[in-house]
Amino acid sequence: MARLKIESLRKSFAATTAVDDFSLDVGDGELVCLLGPSGSGKSTILRMIGGFEQPTSGMIRIDGQDVTRLSPERRPTGMVFQSHALWSHMNVFNNIAFGLKLRSLSRGEIQRKVDQALELVGLAGYGHRQTFQLSGGQQQRVALARSLVLEPKILLLDEPFASLDQHLRERLREEVRDIQQRLGITTLFVTHGQDEALAMADRIVVLRNGQCEQVDAPDVLYRNPQTEFVAGFIGQMNFLSANVEGGRFRHPDFTLDVEVQDGPAVLALRPEALRLEPSDSPDAAGVTRATDFGSHIMVDVELRDGARLKVMTAPDARWQKGQTVRLAASAFALYRQNRLLARGGLPVETVEGRSRHALA
Ligand SMILES: Nc1ncnc2c1ncn2[C@@H]1O[C@H](COP(=O)(O)OP(=O)(O)OP(=O)(O)O)[C@@H](O)[C@H]1O
Ligand SMILES: [Mg+2]
Repeated sequence: MARLKIESLRKSFAATTAVDDFSLDVGDGELVCLLGPSGSGKSTILRMIGGFEQPTSGMIRIDGQDVTRLSPERRPTGMVFQSHALWSHMNVFNNIAFGLKLRSLSRGEIQRKVDQALELVGLAGYGHRQTFQLSGGQQQRVALARSLVLEPKILLLDEPFASLDQHLRERLREEVRDIQQRLGITTLFVTHGQDEALAMADRIVVLRNGQCEQVDAPDVLYRNPQTEFVAGFIGQMNFLSANVEGGRFRHPDFTLDVEVQDGPAVLALRPEALRLEPSDSPDAAGVTRATDFGSHIMVDVELRDGARLKVMTAPDARWQKGQTVRLAASAFALYRQNRLLARGGLPVETVEGRSRHALA
């Protein structure tokens, strides 16, 4: 059992507020990803949980115990950093055994535990290797084994694969997810790769300027972003700005009836929620590019006011540059000042350039 509870955590460095009133509960065996742009406070949160940074205020509890002021080695946490922080003067075995030796275990027990940890990360038999004889991916596996061998209650991973190429990163994140689930170890994983977060996490925390924008399961976050920032940060999104007047969002190409107060708003449409149809109207939107990704074709469309949208189409669709089209959307969300105003699955479409809400 290991539950992590973070309450109103705050960290200031002189004039910079790196983390601002951050709270989070992580359940036993859960893997939560901290996702956000560079400088959003991800590492600072992780370092405070691991005890490498003192919070300005707030509290961190593990299984009910207040660990906020404990030193790293007195906490039941294990941390893996972005750059391989192995000791280069020790071989792999000694790197992993180091923490166990401090716990004065018997030789036999240390050997057994190190072998087990190496096996777990797919490096059985590598104990005698020097660290410089390992690839980047193998070094990160050793760093992971070194944390896991101490059987921490909470595993903290700070972009552990950031320096590796994409294929290796994908493989390692699957392996880590596998190990994490097998051990049932409560884990916090920092990344600024949304794919990584979507692929691994039970829940994702989206951070911005040291504050939490949204915490949800990956599918919920993708399908129901609560802020414009999250909508733009997770996956691809098209945005159109216009005013709402008299209960109608009035973009020259998309109008939409919405029961919200008048004022400026931003319409958000996913590329896969848009559909194209040919149009003869000289007034219609035009295809500016079609990019074939094999699994799908991404079509760039320019609206009359110059706004550009991305539309995901089937791999056999044949849209060409210069073609005039009309668009229909099967789902939308509307934001104002970053907050969600309205969302729905009602069809919205442009009609011969002049648009209307299909059900209006
Ligand atoms: N030791 C420090 N002294 C002063 N400012 C710091 C320190 N550590 C972090 N910061 C600042 O705190 C903010 C958050 O930094 P943090 O390293 O947590 O971001 P991050 O989300 O991990 O970014 P990245 O994705 O680039 O790793 C940044 O503005 C950073 O400059
Ligand atoms: Mg960081």
